Amino acid sequence: MKRLLLPFLLLALASGCDSCNDTEGDEAAESTETEPTPPPVEPIEAPEVNMDKVYLGRRLYHDPILSGDGTVSCATCHTLDHGGAEDRRTSNGIGDQVGPINSPTVLNAHFNFVQFWDGRAENLQEQAAGPIENPIEMGGAFGDVVGAVAGDEWYAERFASIYGEDDPVTKDNITDALAEYERYLITPAPFDDFLRGDESALNEQEQRGWAAFQEVGCISCHQGVNLGGTMFQKMGVVENYFEMRGGELTEADHGRFNVTEDEADRHKFKVPTLRNITLTPPYFHDGSQTDLREVVRIMARIQLGKQLEDGQVDDIVAFLGALEGELPAEARLPEDQAPPDRRATGGEGLEHPETGEEAEEVLETADGE
Ligand code: HEC
Ligand code: HEC
Repeated sequence: MKRLLLPFLLLALASGCDSCNDTEGDEAAESTETEPTPPPVEPIEAPEVNMDKVYLGRRLYHDPILSGDGTVSCATCHTLDHGGAEDRRTSNGIGDQVGPINSPTVLNAHFNFVQFWDGRAENLQEQAAGPIENPIEMGGAFGDVVGAVAGDEWYAERFASIYGEDDPVTKDNITDALAEYERYLITPAPFDDFLRGDESALNEQEQRGWAAFQEVGCISCHQGVNLGGTMFQKMGVVENYFEMRGGELTEADHGRFNVTEDEADRHKFKVPTLRNITLTPPYFHDGSQTDLREVVRIMARIQLGKQLEDGQVDDIVAFLGALEGELPAEARLPEDQAPPDRRATGGEGLEHPETGEEAEEVLETADGE
């Protein structure tokens, strides 16, 4: 392990990366002058969670009751069987409207320094309100959603027992439970065992891939416990990605600029986590790539100005496979909790039949967050 530290150190110096210092945290404070700085990756550790909230959040997550027309749940676009992301280039929401951007994984999202590709949500709780009110994604108005959830006996009981009898079903409590469930969705992988000292957890090729990942410089951006999620970086540092991709620029392509309107932030995105990356094609914010080998090549070229050998690509992809983790034991919704049909016609618990007109009204009034 120790021998792997050196390439990173050189890199960190070479790239003069600002946020490297931020990620060292307590470890840096403890290290003495003779010890090398630890690499900016740490093994994953699941946070403490309140399991009652997790069970509540788990059902909300899988329940289309949160969408305006009772057809779309969080799990529609963040499918546990697809690494917590989705099998589509960009998301389809209610009424099959096509969204502008690819859905990132919810697994381990807890560790990201901000949420969304452009970082417009500070944390998971703030994030969770976004899709529910987004006219394209779930198209709900939170007032209606709260009413529908409060009208469902199963939810009413649980919200009251967790949040108290006094007005338990609120927007804050719904997003709190969803966020708690997401904090539970942490996936330890073989790479974590390796980082803790079990060298046999990675085979030779995977270890070569980890070494290449550091030497080539991927780690200057994909670092921290999530191998990502610690900083914004431009898509196309060395080469213009958008020219290479072709096609019209979309609003989503402007990334962080949409939040700050600072020219320096144009085309910057939160560096995504690489945990479970083998499970979550298509790739990039625009969902334009399906082949992970090709993605690794593109990254090396446009972010680092390097042309990788085939063998290096194979090794790095093998290493990325060692970031595939296991879902926690109770991540999946038990069969007997599967929500009933929530569609406006005959939906149980949905007390506000949505007409086409109302859906349009939502489209006009929501601010698109
Ligand atoms: C219609 C598809 C769709 C639905 C439904 C949906 N999401 Fe998302 N989700 C997305 C897309 C697309 C993004 C990325 C949007 C962006 O960054 O601008 C996203 C982003 C996120 C992120 C941020 C992850 C990161 O790394 O930045 C989290 C967390 C998340 N969604 C959780 C949820 C939860 C919880 C729900 C249910 C309340 C939900 N999503 C419903 C498509 C969806
Ligand atoms: C300069 C910072 C930087 C470097 C260096 C870098 N990346 Fe990235 N990487 C990013 C950003 C930013 C994105 C998201 C870009 C987008 O989707 O528009 C990304 C996206 C990815 C994705 C797709 C993730 C997803 O969920 O769609 C993979 C895989 C990836 N990088 C692997 C690598 C590998 C392997 C290397 C080294 C060869 C590397 N990256 C080097 C910043 C970087």
